[in-house]
Amino acid sequence: MNNSEFNPNIFLNHLAQTNPFPFMLPIERAEGIYLYTPKGKRYTDLISGIAVTNIGHRHPKVVEAIKAQVDKHLHVMAYGEFIQSPSNLLAKELADVLPQNLNCTYLVNSGTEANEGALKLAKRYTGRSEIISFHKSYHGNTQGSLSVSGNEKKKNAFRPLLPDVRFIHFNNIEDLQFITQRTACIIMETIQGDAGVRIPSKEFMLALRKRCDETGALLILDEIQCGMGRTGTLFAFEQFGIVPDILTLAKAFGGGLPIGAFISSKEIMNSLTHNPMLGHITTFGGNPVCCASALATLRVLVADKIIQNVDQLGKLFESLLKHKHIKAIRRIGLMFAIDFDSEERVQRIVKDALENGVICFWFLSCPNSFRIAPPLTISESEVREACNVILKSIENS
Ligand SMILES: Cc1ncc(COP(=O)(O)O)c(C=O)c1O
Repeated sequence: MNNSEFNPNIFLNHLAQTNPFPFMLPIERAEGIYLYTPKGKRYTDLISGIAVTNIGHRHPKVVEAIKAQVDKHLHVMAYGEFIQSPSNLLAKELADVLPQNLNCTYLVNSGTEANEGALKLAKRYTGRSEIISFHKSYHGNTQGSLSVSGNEKKKNAFRPLLPDVRFIHFNNIEDLQFITQRTACIIMETIQGDAGVRIPSKEFMLALRKRCDETGALLILDEIQCGMGRTGTLFAFEQFGIVPDILTLAKAFGGGLPIGAFISSKEIMNSLTHNPMLGHITTFGGNPVCCASALATLRVLVADKIIQNVDQLGKLFESLLKHKHIKAIRRIGLMFAIDFDSEERVQRIVKDALENGVICFWFLSCPNSFRIAPPLTISESEVREACNVILKSIENS
């Protein structure tokens, strides 16, 4: 092994650090639900790299698709000029699995860029400027996405941010009155992730859709964290009987490579073609290797019937995670927040579980909870093993 490869001093001094307590776990390889250190210690990944590896690390079909594309071509042209097979197939197969109005995809490089594109599209299409978002939401860290995210502490140092953004309360039907004919769009995580897995009621979602229809405001659903099978359906909105005007995807969408998308109707999307032409530009959006990986991931999720087991596996976790220190569990599919009495206890549990080979993680905006979001391919016996470790860590806390 080269001395520099996993050297913590290089990591701390030459890679930008934004957090005083990084995990500092050296990872050499990953397979399925497991990560391995250079010394061969195995860790169970219960967070999927923060909701990315929904079909496990290095799924064979994804690896094969990436290798096949690498042998054909890498980047050849900026977004939207050349016809390339991976992006063409991906756009078509997305349209096949989505409702009819979500038939046109703009491919970008990350979640935050997907939301930037969606916000721009809504402003351009409606000719309006007001954006409505929800308290405690998380939509990314570039300036537009940060402007519509709810965590005040994280925003204050970077003001001024986007003007004309209003925050309303999640799952509060009364607050929908603030959506008016001035509103370009409302952006919402179908399931709030970073807020600690907050699940809206169906009644709220139906009222939200109705209010958007009445006012002409576009509904953007951010499924960057909760999409791609995580909640037990391919897209979380399917469980609420509504369809957004714009859907944003990233994270698990790429199967482990960086890619995002904002998806709308051809009619709405066409507004990026004029006044100004090239209404959104990206050099790497639709990168062929990332698209090949995303396409293989989508095919695995749809064909391998992974999603149909998600709720049952989620229920198994929930039935095993019983302890007097657990105050509440919020869960949809395989997306969990486990609540405790203090932030300190959460930190002790996450640290102890890590020492014993199981990776859980915290939330930015929900300090008394930790998150579990394992690969959807986890087996029942792996769920039992992981829960045994977590229960011991809770007992030791
Ligand atoms: C709901 C949601 N939206 C947007 C983002 C931003 O995605 P990215 O980190 O790829 O920019 C995240 C990332 O955690 C997210 O959870």
